[in-house]
Amino acid sequence: MRNLYLAGALVSLACFVTAAPTSLMRGQLPDGMPSPGPSELKQIEQSAHGTLPNGPPPPAISNQGIVNLKLIAFNELFEVAFFNELITNITENVEGYRFNKAEEQTVVLDALKAILAQEELHALRANDALSHFNVTEIEPCKYQFPVQDFDDAIVLASTFTSLVLGTLQDVVERFALGHDVDLAREISSVIGQEGEQQGWFRVMQGKIPSELPFLTTSDLNFAFTAIQDFVVPGSCPNIFDIPLRTFEDLKILSTPGPQSQNLTFQFNDPDNDAAHPLWMTYINQQNLPIVEPLHIISRDGREVQAEALFPFDDHEMNGLTIATVTNLEGPFEDVSSVAKWTLAGPGLIIIN
Ligand SMILES: *[C@@H]1O[C@H](CO)[C@@H](O)[C@H](O)[C@H]1NC(C)=O
Ligand SMILES: *[C@@H]1O[C@H](CO)[C@@H](O)[C@H](O)[C@H]1NC(C)=O
Ligand SMILES: *[C@@H]1O[C@H](CO)[C@@H](O)[C@H](O)[C@H]1NC(C)=O
Repeated sequence: MRNLYLAGALVSLACFVTAAPTSLMRGQLPDGMPSPGPSELKQIEQSAHGTLPNGPPPPAISNQGIVNLKLIAFNELFEVAFFNELITNITENVEGYRFNKAEEQTVVLDALKAILAQEELHALRANDALSHFNVTEIEPCKYQFPVQDFDDAIVLASTFTSLVLGTLQDVVERFALGHDVDLAREISSVIGQEGEQQGWFRVMQGKIPSELPFLTTSDLNFAFTAIQDFVVPGSCPNIFDIPLRTFEDLKILSTPGPQSQNLTFQFNDPDNDAAHPLWMTYINQQNLPIVEPLHIISRDGREVQAEALFPFDDHEMNGLTIATVTNLEGPFEDVSSVAKWTLAGPGLIIIN
């Protein structure tokens, strides 16, 4: 409530104080986002080291293609808010974001400023395409991030980028199914781009740059749910225009490591039906989903704590694993059939 009130106050202020900086007037997004003027766009392109594609948009698009563009815009706007806040924290030497050496700070800021501008162009491209097809553009929300220092911010960036890299595979498949040929090619160029970012985030965590031979796949609905963790509830002007599912929250209470182990999870069971069995289903790499029995430890109203095996050793489960509570044992043939039967998730595990 407090945040919403504040947002309202800023908007009305902006009507009177025309000289106020645009970042203040438009909330949390920089550079005139989500609708920069021509000179702001030129500046973004310079910071991004490149331009928006300048060819004509495709003449037609499938319905699933529209859903893809909405999810991409929703995700990219959140990323813009995140990287902008991270850059601000570093620039202002906020505690937890200070570098010992000025050169290190410069190298990191140079990279992050390019990433910010590149994400801005991704968001603009998706929203421009929506408006070209006479579909309402996705508007930014207010965001909050569960990090207090640079290292945690990079871990978070790496986590949501892994999920994006999986989700864009689903985007390409849906474009392919809808014969959205030109869009499939363009999104493939973005997948490589996000992969370059991810290599850098991984190196900063002391990991090898390339995560897996075949990156873990995901589903649009999982990304839609996960992004909402960073959204101030009720602050999205048109989130209901995005026809995707939001699952129950899944918390991983244990710290997974590179060996088979039992993990403890917490989630809400809206059915609150102790008689109905549940399973923990894992998606890792391009492999068939792995289903493990979920042992209920306790039920407190709708809140459930439960345990399931994380069978790392049997499947070389490095990189991103998406954990979901399903109300079907499977076997599942792919990630979209898992999403169909998901109750809670995604829980995100990244090993190595
Ligand atoms: C920026 O710093 C503030 C204050 O420590 C913190 O609450 C916020 O989560 C940080 N944001 C990012 C993206 O690191
Ligand atoms: C969008 O709407 C305009 C005005 O109604 C129309 O001329 C145009 O053909 C529409 N574009 C598409 C791609 O449907
Ligand atoms: C997981 O828990 C089950 C049942 O409590 C136990 O039999 C099994 O040995 C445990 N597995 C591991 C890897 O700890």
